[in-house]
Amino acid sequence: MRKPLISGNWKMHLNHFEAMKLIQEMSYKITGDDVDVVDVSVHPPFTDLRTVQTVIDSDKLPFFLGAQHCHYEEKGAFTGEIAPSMLAKLNVTYVITGHSERREVFGETDEMVNLKTKAILATGMTPIVCVGETLQERDAGDAEAKIGSQVQAALTGLSAEQVGSLVIAYEPIWAIGTGRTASAEDAQAMCHHVRAGVQGIYGDEAAQSVRIQYGGSVKPANARELLTQPDIDGALVGGASLDADDFSRIVQYRLAD
Ligand code: PGA
Repeated sequence: MRKPLISGNWKMHLNHFEAMKLIQEMSYKITGDDVDVVDVSVHPPFTDLRTVQTVIDSDKLPFFLGAQHCHYEEKGAFTGEIAPSMLAKLNVTYVITGHSERREVFGETDEMVNLKTKAILATGMTPIVCVGETLQERDAGDAEAKIGSQVQAALTGLSAEQVGSLVIAYEPIWAIGTGRTASAEDAQAMCHHVRAGVQGIYGDEAAQSVRIQYGGSVKPANARELLTQPDIDGALVGGASLDADDFSRIVQYRLAD
C-alpha cells in the first residue's frame, strides 16, 4: 500500500517567526492517528528551514521537513543558490523540483529538473517532481502528451528502483492558486496517465510504488473526493497549507463528511 503524502508548499510566505507559529499550531491539530496513515511534509522558504527543523526535532513533531527548490550542483559560483547537501544536513527529506512557478518564472527546463532530481536522490532525499499542463494545452487536447513528456524528461537516466521511490505531483497549472480544481475524475485520469507512463518505461514495480500527488487549489472541501481516488496518493497544497486549521482538515480528509 502506498502511504499518502500531504505536503504544504508555503511558497514565498512566512518569515521564520511566523513559520514557527504555524508549525506549532499544526502540531496541536494533527495527531499521531493522522500520521499513522498519512505522511505530512512542510516546505518553508529557505530562511525558515533551520527554525522549523529545530522545532520539529526538539518537540519530536511527526512532520517531515521539505524544501521548495535547490541547485543540482554541489558547490560553486552560483550566487543565491542552495546545494542539495545543505538541505540534507538540515534533515530535509523531500525537495520539490520542477514546480510550474519555477519553470515559468525562473526558466527551469526539463533538463534542469532531471539534473536536480538526480542530485536530490544522490543526497538521499526524495524529490517531489512536479508536472502539469497549461489551460491552452488542455483545451488543445495536449494535456496527456505534455505530462507524458515532462515525466519522461524528468526521470531520464534513473533506475526503476529510484523511480519507485519518487513522488510525482500532477499539478494542472490552471488550477494553481486560482480556486479552480480539476474534477476528481480528471485528476484521477491524469494521475493514472502518469502511473501508466512510469509503467511503460520502468515496469510494474516502479509504477506501483511511485507516489503521485495531485496539486492545485486543494482545500478541506475537495480533499476527500480527490484523495480517495485510486491513483492519487496525496496532495501538494499551496494556499490552504498556510492555515493550520485548513491544512489539518486536509490531512484528516478521511474523517470528512
Ligand atoms: P495552491 O498551490 O494549492 O495554492 O493551488 C499548489 C501548488 O502550487 O503547489
